[in-house]
Amino acid sequence: MTRTYKIIVFSGDGVGKEVVPETVKILKSARDVVTGFNLEFTEFPCGGKHYLETGKEWPDEAWDACKNSDAILFGAIGWPGAVKSGGVLAGVDILLGLRFGLDLYANLRPAKLFEGIESRVLDKSSKDVDFVVVRENTEGLYAPIRGALNRGGIEELAVDVRVITRKGAERIIRYAFNLCMRRGGAPRDGKRRVSCVDKSNVLDGCRLFRKIYDEIAKGYEEIERDYVYVDAMTQWMIRAPEHYDVVVTSNFQGDIISDLSAVLIGGMGVAPSANIGEKYGMFEPVHGSAPDIAGQQKANPIGSILSGKMMLEWLALKHSDKACKRAAQRIEEAVSKVLIEGNIRTPDLCYGKYAGLSPSKTQEVGDAILRKIEK
Ligand code: IPM
Ligand code: MN
Repeated sequence: MTRTYKIIVFSGDGVGKEVVPETVKILKSARDVVTGFNLEFTEFPCGGKHYLETGKEWPDEAWDACKNSDAILFGAIGWPGAVKSGGVLAGVDILLGLRFGLDLYANLRPAKLFEGIESRVLDKSSKDVDFVVVRENTEGLYAPIRGALNRGGIEELAVDVRVITRKGAERIIRYAFNLCMRRGGAPRDGKRRVSCVDKSNVLDGCRLFRKIYDEIAKGYEEIERDYVYVDAMTQWMIRAPEHYDVVVTSNFQGDIISDLSAVLIGGMGVAPSANIGEKYGMFEPVHGSAPDIAGQQKANPIGSILSGKMMLEWLALKHSDKACKRAAQRIEEAVSKVLIEGNIRTPDLCYGKYAGLSPSKTQEVGDAILRKIEK
């Protein structure tokens, strides 16, 4: 039986409008070439620009559509001047609302350097960089327990409470260990390793997180334990990325180190991510809406396309769907081939030995990947 997956699409703001259509194009082509599964796409507007035009961040029916979806593809949110009362960027509540509302507790941010991209970190190659940051996505500093004190029109104080719960820590750490079992180990020594990144020398929440890490690690004899303070991590990740396999951490710390990890793989333009829960999944490039280059066909679609590939991998795992898995592989191979050939790349990747190239447009990169899929 051919399964049909309902995919909800939010291109959102800025370059999201350019990279997401390329991703849909690639997903459709992989579906048509591989066959054996079907994807049905429904797009809704959302984000800051939509807010400025309509007074709403997204249409009312979008939430129900997400609740009835098999997966969600997300672009980016944030547009200059689109700010809600209280100073919140219009669109942020949609992104965080989906993460919290659909209980997408695991935010996966792979840092895998493709051959054909030079690392921004000297002397690191594709043999050195292949780890995943597993970021907790439903608590930490992003828990909506915050407030500001305004006295006589003066903003006096603001607090954001960082929440670490046993349930939240347990499920993200377990996710990290299970993911580690499905991978091939760290590039340096092939050892399976889950690195716990925290600030447990100071923070109680981090002490609880590490304690739970130790409890769960006991159930995985074949996985090496590894402890890193988050401040030290910002240098070790760059100095010795080959040591890392799976990295697990709380929400805000994961936000920061995952952006940092993108410098290892060629920048934010190629960094994908997945937000995963028990039932739902949402897939988005790590980069934002980039208003400065929006509408100019300069954005790299690869971060978004690889997020689409992660969507197929997740559907494959969830539904034991081999066709989906093959389609994901086909997309990854196509991206890899285009990067190795080297001459078609957006401006963000035209550095180092590719500095002299004339940069390609967003669509041209999408087309080149499409041709490899169809071959
Ligand atoms: C990300 C972004 C978001 C976050 C913002 C836009 C709310 O930076 O996906 O990493 O902080 O999680
Ligand atoms: Mn971020």
